Amino acid sequence: MVALKHHIFVCASCRINGQQKGFCHSKGSVDIIQKFMEEIEDRDLSGEVMITNTGCFGICEKGPIAVVYPEGVWYGNLTEDDVEKIVEQHIEGGKVVEELRI
Ligand code: FES
Repeated sequence: MVALKHHIFVCASCRINGQQKGFCHSKGSVDIIQKFMEEIEDRDLSGEVMITNTGCFGICEKGPIAVVYPEGVWYGNLTEDDVEKIVEQHIEGGKVVEELRI
C-alpha cells in the first residue's frame, strides 16, 4: 500500500477508446500533466504525490481541470504556468490557491 499525501487528477479528455479528444486536450492538458510530473519529480515528492490523467469531468467550459485529493479541491481554466503555484502553495504549503479554484 502506497501512503500518498495527495492524488492529483488532471483531465486529459480521454475517451472510452483511449483517444484523447476534447476541450481540455485542445487547451494543452497534456502539457499541464507533464508539468505536474516535472514539478513533483523536481521537488522530490514522487513518493507522496500521484498524478493521474482522466477522462472528461463534464465541465469542459471550465477546463483544463485538475482535482486535488484528499481535499477535493477543483482547479480550472489552468495553464502550464499555474502548475508551479499549485504544487508550491497547495501541495507543499497546504494552502489552497483560491484564485484558481472553481
Ligand atoms: S474535456 Fe476536460 S472536463 Fe471535459
